[in-house]
Amino acid sequence: MKEKIDLNRIPKHVAIIMDGNGRWAKKHGKLRALGHKAGVMPVREVSEAGSELGVKYITLYAFSTENWNRPKAEVDALMALLVSSIKKEIKDLKKNNIQLQTIGDLSSLPSISQKTLREAVAETSENTGLTLILALSYGSRTEIVNAAKKLAIKYKNNELTETDFTEEVFSNELYTSDIPDPELMIRTSGELRISNFLMWQLAYAELYFTDKLWPDIRKNDFYEAIYDFQNRERRFGKTSDQL
Ligand code: IPE
Ligand code: IPE
Ligand code: MG
Repeated sequence: MKEKIDLNRIPKHVAIIMDGNGRWAKKHGKLRALGHKAGVMPVREVSEAGSELGVKYITLYAFSTENWNRPKAEVDALMALLVSSIKKEIKDLKKNNIQLQTIGDLSSLPSISQKTLREAVAETSENTGLTLILALSYGSRTEIVNAAKKLAIKYKNNELTETDFTEEVFSNELYTSDIPDPELMIRTSGELRISNFLMWQLAYAELYFTDKLWPDIRKNDFYEAIYDFQNRERRFGKTSDQL
């Protein structure tokens, strides 16, 4: 599959909804937490595959604002897994020249998770390869409302006028202000929805869905999604003849 990919037309930014850990666990007669644990290896697989192809940004939806409503034991297990995985992977992130970033309301995470994340982000900040962005306690609606609030304050303080309210100015208040919009969004596990993920940023992304559960995802599945993306016609409102 990798050989079929045109290296001159690699998307800069791929966003992924890593879904299906719970169903994977159930299928294998395990606890849900073990499904999440099995979801760590595919993160490594897609990061490596993305790095090899020259993808600049991969955003992974790891925990949504709505996921706080899950049973406390599962939330705790996910937060603990986040800390242990980052501690385990930091060496490889550095070795592979991967920069770690985060988006979302980090202040709502346990302080140990915040600390581990801050350190990992700082330790990889000089890396120039792939930027791996973890969406944690992330919700698009919160992000958009917060952007509107920040602009309202600037307006009130006479830092901007009504004519300054442009799409560009608005985007600059989002978590992703310095990151280009994703060209491709992948969701695993067969669910056909966005689940409050990057609603502004995905406005013109190509959407790719696979029935495979996240813990079963390997490099080749990522290549398949990229190949599929390369065979789409992105028209941006124009006609085919205009392209
Ligand atoms: C995705 O897997 C991981 C998170 C949302 C944290 P799920 O836990 O949603 O797995 P399913 O959808 O129940 O199978
Ligand atoms: C979306 O998955 C969030 C993450 C993958 C982190 P969910 O499994 O929480 O989404 P819904 O609730 O089924 O839409
Ligand atoms: Mg799910």
